[in-house]
Amino acid sequence: MIKVGIITASDKGSQGEREDRSGEALKELVKGINGEVVKYAILPDDLKVLADTMSQWADEGEVDLLLTTGGTGFSPRDVTPEATIAVAERMAPGIAEVMRYESLKVTPMGMLSRAVAALRKKTLIINMPGSPKAVKECWNAIAPALPHGIEILKGEASECASNKHLHHHHHDHHHDHHHGHEDHQGHHHCHNHDHHKS
Ligand code: MTE
Repeated sequence: MIKVGIITASDKGSQGEREDRSGEALKELVKGINGEVVKYAILPDDLKVLADTMSQWADEGEVDLLLTTGGTGFSPRDVTPEATIAVAERMAPGIAEVMRYESLKVTPMGMLSRAVAALRKKTLIINMPGSPKAVKECWNAIAPALPHGIEILKGEASECASNKHLHHHHHDHHHDHHHGHEDHQGHHHCHNHDHHKS
């Protein structure tokens, strides 16, 4: 189970003037990676409020995955990436790169999302755009790699995993062509491709 926190950044949403459809979309989507939403907040587009909430959830170990939706565009009030950068210990740029890459196949507006992804303690923070449609498109692009990334972040898997998250070989171990081994926790690991050099 992956503990998920969702923050919807929306001035109107936080005042109850707009339904949080993208947050609702995320709640459904995370079920696909065995995610359970344990924290949820609709916050105004305020850098300090957003940053304080993100750092609190991360520092208290409340969530493994913190998804934000909204506030990534060019409107003067859009500050979700800045709040994320403010609390980041390390950046995880590949996640936002993939989201923009996939979004651009759908719409040129994809380049207008300034979303970032970052790590703080044992929490992976990912910004997503504010529309339910964009949320779904971006989620589908990144979801396959998230369980393994979170495992590594939490120290539950120490090495590069086999492809079991991507291919569905684990349903049928007899035909599992990976070249790794299982550790005592039953996690699959691949051998380092250049291990013969060491
Ligand atoms: N990404 C995808 N996949 N699909 C979309 O429709 N909309 C874009 C972009 N990313 C879009 C998308 C638009 S129109 C904007 S303005 C930016 O995300 C920023 O959105 P935000 O301000 O709601 O975070």
